Amino acid sequence: MSSLSYTLNDGNTIPWLGFGTGTALYGKDASSQVKAAIDHGITHLDGAQVYQNEKALGEGIKASGKPRESLFVTTKFGPNTKGPTPVIRDTLVESLSKLGLDYVDLFLIHQPYPLNERGELKKTWQELEAIQKEGLAKSIGVSNYRVVDLKELLEGATVVPAVNQIEFHPYVFDTAEEIYEFSKSKGIRIASYAGLAPITHVKGGPVDAPVNAAAERLSKETGKTVEPAHVLTKWLLQKGIIVVTTTSKPERITATLNVPNLPDLTAEELKAIDVEGAKLHRRIYMRHVFGEAKANV
Ligand SMILES: NC(=O)c1ccc[n+]([C@@H]2O[C@H](COP(=O)([O-])OP(=O)(O)OC[C@H]3O[C@@H](n4cnc5c(N)ncnc54)[C@H](OP(=O)(O)O)[C@@H]3O)[C@@H](O)[C@H]2O)c1
Repeated sequence: MSSLSYTLNDGNTIPWLGFGTGTALYGKDASSQVKAAIDHGITHLDGAQVYQNEKALGEGIKASGKPRESLFVTTKFGPNTKGPTPVIRDTLVESLSKLGLDYVDLFLIHQPYPLNERGELKKTWQELEAIQKEGLAKSIGVSNYRVVDLKELLEGATVVPAVNQIEFHPYVFDTAEEIYEFSKSKGIRIASYAGLAPITHVKGGPVDAPVNAAAERLSKETGKTVEPAHVLTKWLLQKGIIVVTTTSKPERITATLNVPNLPDLTAEELKAIDVEGAKLHRRIYMRHVFGEAKANV
């Protein structure tokens, strides 16, 4: 089991692997899954206002019996598309009440839309800066922000976002790489979601061959089964990326938490995954932000 964590630009640390309550657990009572994840070694939980299960996330945390300070909890402000943007602090106070917590470790703006269209990227970021100052969130950041959104936000910022959580896997590497490089140059840590998309959503794609080959090599070398999912996770880790995942099978968490201890992918294996990934573009979430679909949120 690994306790690897990253230090963020504000000096706080974040465990490399987060357990998410969106996607498969969206709108569901996630409490038993959250407790099971913590029981299996997870210390980083990823929630959001739009997932409509912050109460269940809080219940799972409480049921785990773990001290608050041993856990890292994220929630996200979900910009509303109907009506004016609310006072963000008010939404966080409501989230904290649902979570049963006094503070979150990380508070993110879930997506730039429709704040970008409303000219509110700077204003909303300044609200997050005030929230951090008050101590309601230890770290603050964004999610699904493109380079253009980050540039606009930074023009009015006194605090650089600690994290930008984006979809990151080989089939979006073409667009994610630019965000990754820009974020890195500003000290913003990338967190990934949908990292397992080549297995869960895009089976039979071009990265299967290099991913399966690396899994086979690592299985032989370690004498234990290394799955394709672990190779995709290692690909993210070797880029210094925080990984947010989820599973209905808590026993999978143990193997995933061991990924930092696996031998590294070679430069050739990493390159083969990049090259094959670039042959196909498949974005699973937030397609409207990237101009790949109409907004439907
Ligand atoms: N900021 C955003 O806009 C945004 C968007 C999407 C997601 N997220 C966050 O990221 C979290 C994870 O997103 P995601 O579901 O896309 O993550 P993911 O890691 O790409 O996929 C998770 C799925 O992979 C399967 N899986 C897990 N381990 C596996 C293994 N070893 N082999 C094969 N399959 C495996 C799981 O199925 P089983 O249940 O069968 O294990 C699970 O349904 C969400 O819950 C949410 O917190 C954020």
